[in-house]
Amino acid sequence: MRLILLGPPGAGKGTQAFRLAARVGAPHVATGELLRAARAAETEIGARASEYMDAGELVPDEVVLEILKLRLAEPDASDGFVLDGFPRNAAQAKALDEILEEIGQKLDAVIALDVPDAVIVERLSSRLTCIKCGRVYSPSAPPKEPGRCNADGTELVRRRDDNPAVIQHRLQVYRKETEPLIAYYEDRGLLTHVNGVGGLEEVLDRMVASLPVA
Ligand code: AP5
Repeated sequence: MRLILLGPPGAGKGTQAFRLAARVGAPHVATGELLRAARAAETEIGARASEYMDAGELVPDEVVLEILKLRLAEPDASDGFVLDGFPRNAAQAKALDEILEEIGQKLDAVIALDVPDAVIVERLSSRLTCIKCGRVYSPSAPPKEPGRCNADGTELVRRRDDNPAVIQHRLQVYRKETEPLIAYYEDRGLLTHVNGVGGLEEVLDRMVASLPVA
């Protein structure tokens, strides 16, 4: 199944895309994670993306597309994917249409995860992230050992863009650049809104219930 998860920063896209991917048997492909991994590995793409990410700006389309195409060409993505953080603007949505057309595939569904701004600010202000595997933790879903990732024991950190000024800027960028994609996919009959407030399993069940029957 080929799915897109849309939503503002902090809506829970990463948290849920990871679980949704396991439910539908497709890889979770998150452009933010790919870019952070490229930066940690000190690659050329990581260096080109770094300052945009820290400022809460969108990384230039050509950089994101380069990293995304490489990821989608991996064998595990040949039968489907759960995209998280992509597309982020109209040009990226069109580029994805072209990539899918080239390989004779189409999108199955787009989920818009709805969460009020006040909840987003609270979530991002208390989020801890594993820079090795990308797992995230919060006061309502803490790690078993304080400050350490459950999966690999890596020390958890506050993301560089999770500070109050950059969170506000990311929300503005989302409203201007990404939110218009809701209408783009609604017009094509692909989009369902899902309430992203609630327990992790509850939100996941809502998302699964919104999917077209395979
Ligand atoms: P990216 O990594 O995509 O960040 P984002 O969109 O800002 O989203 P977040 O990762 O902050 O939030 P999320 O929705 O995944 O929430 P999470 O699950 O962590 O992008 C980062 C940067 O990379 C961008 O600013 C840009 O520079 C660049 N970039 C990436 N993609 C790009 C693209 N396509 N084009 C251009 N630039 C790009 O949850 C948040 C917190 O809430 C966590 O602590 C979690 O535990 C908690 N939580 C989640 N669900 C619940 C719940 N139901 N109840 C309580 N707490 C919850």
